Amino acid sequence: MIVTIDGPAGAGKSTIARALARRLGFRFLDTGAMYRAVAWSARENHLDWDDPQQIVALARQLRLEVGEHEVRVDGRDVTEAIRTSEVTALTHFAANNPGVREHLVELQRQAAGMDSIVTEGRDQGTVVFPHAECKIYLTASPEERARRRAHELASRGQATTLAEVLHHQNQRDERDANREVGPMVAASDALEVSTDGLTPTQVLDRLEEIVRAKLTQRST
Ligand code: DC
Repeated sequence: MIVTIDGPAGAGKSTIARALARRLGFRFLDTGAMYRAVAWSARENHLDWDDPQQIVALARQLRLEVGEHEVRVDGRDVTEAIRTSEVTALTHFAANNPGVREHLVELQRQAAGMDSIVTEGRDQGTVVFPHAECKIYLTASPEERARRRAHELASRGQATTLAEVLHHQNQRDERDANREVGPMVAASDALEVSTDGLTPTQVLDRLEEIVRAKLTQRST
């Protein structure tokens, strides 16, 4: 079974999707990490952000390994490096590039293979796995999402203010929602779940219930 979890940054997707996969015994795929890894590598190689073809060529030749806990680019561990504010701010150069998206969508489908998987991103239920049996769209209010992100950055030792986080988050939401290829939008058959005011365990219980109901439906 394929479970897609899409939604905006800070809704809790990564934490929830990873834990859900573990509870279900499914594999987990963090597709945001793939866009981040391409942006990280483009920066490392001093590519010209104004030349989209350079970024596409780079994406095609990278060896990306996105594991449950570790992300590697050509064998180098970039798990932490792709999560800095700088890389976060540059990732739209990869995510808004149709050629990069085409390539990464292909890799995501290959990664799923025939296994049961929980995959999270922005376009998993719409573009990458339109026939997935279980689609969740995870949301939270902008303020709640910004608070969580500020907390996460502080725990990594990155100083910032809530207003600054909210500003960058609004910019990212706008870009994610308005790009022509793979925009962030709920699939028409996705179940929308708001995480406002819920603990991660409560969200996880709710999602597990949804997936198990689908599994039961399938076997009857
Ligand atoms: O989920 P995240 O914050 O790690 O995602 C990083 C960026 O990549 C974010 O700006 C949205 C983009 N992204 C995307 O365009 N498509 C996906 N499937 C996943 C992430």
